[in-house]
Amino acid sequence: MNEDIVNVEIADNIGLICLNKPPVNALGVALRSEIHRVLHVLLGDDSVEAIVLYGGGKYFSAGADIKDFGLADQQPTLPELLKAINNSPKPVVAALHGIAFGGALELALAAQVRVGSNGLQIALPEVTLGLLPGAGGTQRLPRLTGIQAALDIICTGRRVNADEALKLGIVSRLEEGAARDIGIGAANDLLSGGLKGTVTDDLPVKPDAKAIADARQRFAKGLTAPRIAIDSIEAASAPIDAGLAKERALFMQLMDGEERAGLVHAFFAERATSRIPEQAAATRNIDNVGIVGGGTMGVGIATAFLLSGFPVSLIELQAERVQQAKSAIAKNLDGALKRGKLTEENHRIALSRLNCSAELSDLSEADLVVEAIFEDLDVKTALFQDLDKICKQGAILATNTSYLDVNEIAAATSRPGDVIGLHFFSPAHIMRLLEVVVATNTAPELVSTAFELARKLRKLPVRAEVCDGFIGNRILAQYRKCCEYLLLDGASFEQIDTALENFGFAMGPFAVSDLAGLDISRATRQRKAATRPAQERYSHIADQICEEGWFGRKTKRGYYLYDEKMTRTVNPGAVAIVTAERESQGITPASFTDDEIVERFITAMIMESVNVLEDGVALRPVDIDAVKLFGYGFPRHRGGPMHIADQHGVEEIIKRIKTYAQEDSWYWQVPPLLQQMQSSGKTFSELNDISFDGA
Ligand code: 3HC
Repeated sequence: MNEDIVNVEIADNIGLICLNKPPVNALGVALRSEIHRVLHVLLGDDSVEAIVLYGGGKYFSAGADIKDFGLADQQPTLPELLKAINNSPKPVVAALHGIAFGGALELALAAQVRVGSNGLQIALPEVTLGLLPGAGGTQRLPRLTGIQAALDIICTGRRVNADEALKLGIVSRLEEGAARDIGIGAANDLLSGGLKGTVTDDLPVKPDAKAIADARQRFAKGLTAPRIAIDSIEAASAPIDAGLAKERALFMQLMDGEERAGLVHAFFAERATSRIPEQAAATRNIDNVGIVGGGTMGVGIATAFLLSGFPVSLIELQAERVQQAKSAIAKNLDGALKRGKLTEENHRIALSRLNCSAELSDLSEADLVVEAIFEDLDVKTALFQDLDKICKQGAILATNTSYLDVNEIAAATSRPGDVIGLHFFSPAHIMRLLEVVVATNTAPELVSTAFELARKLRKLPVRAEVCDGFIGNRILAQYRKCCEYLLLDGASFEQIDTALENFGFAMGPFAVSDLAGLDISRATRQRKAATRPAQERYSHIADQICEEGWFGRKTKRGYYLYDEKMTRTVNPGAVAIVTAERESQGITPASFTDDEIVERFITAMIMESVNVLEDGVALRPVDIDAVKLFGYGFPRHRGGPMHIADQHGVEEIIKRIKTYAQEDSWYWQVPPLLQQMQSSGKTFSELNDISFDGA
């Protein structure tokens, strides 16, 4: 018996099976085999009258082992194991605690009774991985809850708390205490008739055409998986065997899909970024936080810290703007309260922990200072010189710059080891990405501290090194140029936006520019004008739109015109500027299909991603995917640019770049790393495979 994975014991007349596979009791083949094996041992033992399944560790189980997806099935499959539980001649109790998700909940649904400990959360989150519950969830849940509730739970993948699970009849009782004890209690009650067991499969399901039709409408757009799940749930009103067969066929169909591959990649990307070279370094305590700058970024960053319980001193150096910054933070906190992100009590505490002033000297005791002032190197270095004088020894001095050289900022201080980049994304209290920018002299413990801090802020930290724009903005600058060229060469900005929105971005690149403010990107272009290579194609369109005083949404005019509700329509003035620019450059507009637009855009993104990788700015391809997914609206089900590059293959990417290079050999260049990968046959996924000491 594999004692490491499953513990089995017999307590009086009850056989106990404890799942014991850290970290989350994922139901991979090893665990399934052991459960299957000990179940039969207990069934063959005459002293055992009932069997309890429960989990050791933090959770009952997180469901099927996601790492196995895409691999060949191994016996016993989850449906086979569940069949054995379902057909058990002795009653089986599933005693759930912590989390019972996906296949784990399905396993419990195959038992005769489910009981839970308080704090339990259940879910069928398969759609978030591009799947549907493939081990009976779409057939057995509707038998307990009815079609309507099952549709909601399965098609959203949402978490259901213990009370709701009890109300819906998914668990028969909830108790305080250890799952093992709760399970034994339930098994005894079951044997004595004090608790009624239900063989889910025997329950009838009332067809509900209206609920099905409503769900089809609700999930008509977006991911495919919820729509296919509806088909499977609809089959629940048929006899169970037919329903299970249909469910399995639909599950396998989704398993083979690109949506599933992209979403699973995103799941692991979210967890991979915390593996960094500095992970074993000590961390510094952060109790008091200072923010310098009361603009949009400073206010958002201050809100993020307050929401996570930190006391914050916000310094706005222009005294007349202090009150404005304070009100903006209070408004953000009010919004969080309304959205249920904050309790009344914590809202009051957060406000009481906020101090706003115009005095840098208020930061003398701060453990961490985040600078979020105007994006200008001279202004920032001057501020860091002041902070160097004011802040206590050991304080972490962080810049929120999105492009500037963190090494130069650090060099302005007498303590470059204490300087790091913390690049938040706007709105900083909502966006999950945090680029942790490690400068040449940044002490390792600052990096480990930043990663720990990110977890407290519920952000996703990604390690980056210094370059113009770090990971995210450097790649953005490059694919943004590709959009300018497509516009110059004949695609309309509306077509480009629509093509990329249909690909899955919430907003196309020109609509994003309008949102961010066209004056902001103009300032960046002006900063880089002197160093722009002579060979680089340049479009004056964006500059000319700015010259009209059209800065996007803030002036209600940019590429688009905006009404009160911010609905966009094409700005004819912007179209005229595009036409004039093409004429002045002697360009005869060509036509592009939407697919061609997406292909060029993604190829440009991949090309620069490879350069970022080669320069060591990103540790691994998966870090680049995480940046794009969590900071730049890259559609999650597409997995990210590096994931897509692997799907197409290095050969194909090189072929595309070479084709486009016939039009512009300065912009389109095959990165040397891509060539090396072609020779060695390596994939991006293989480049993710690096480990660090202590990993
Ligand atoms: N399979 C394999 N590994 C899993 C896993 C799973 N189902 N769930 C979590 N893990 C791994 C994570 O990758 C992570 O590994 P790492 O330490 O090497 O990075 C480790 O377990 C811990 O996970 P988290 O860091 O996410 O831990 P948390 O405590 O924050 O969260 C959780 C735990 C809520 C269970 C979260 O991990 C989660 O949501 N997991 C996915 C659950 C899920 O989607 N289950 C459905 C699977 S599909 C299915 O069951 C198909 C069936 O219908 C046939």
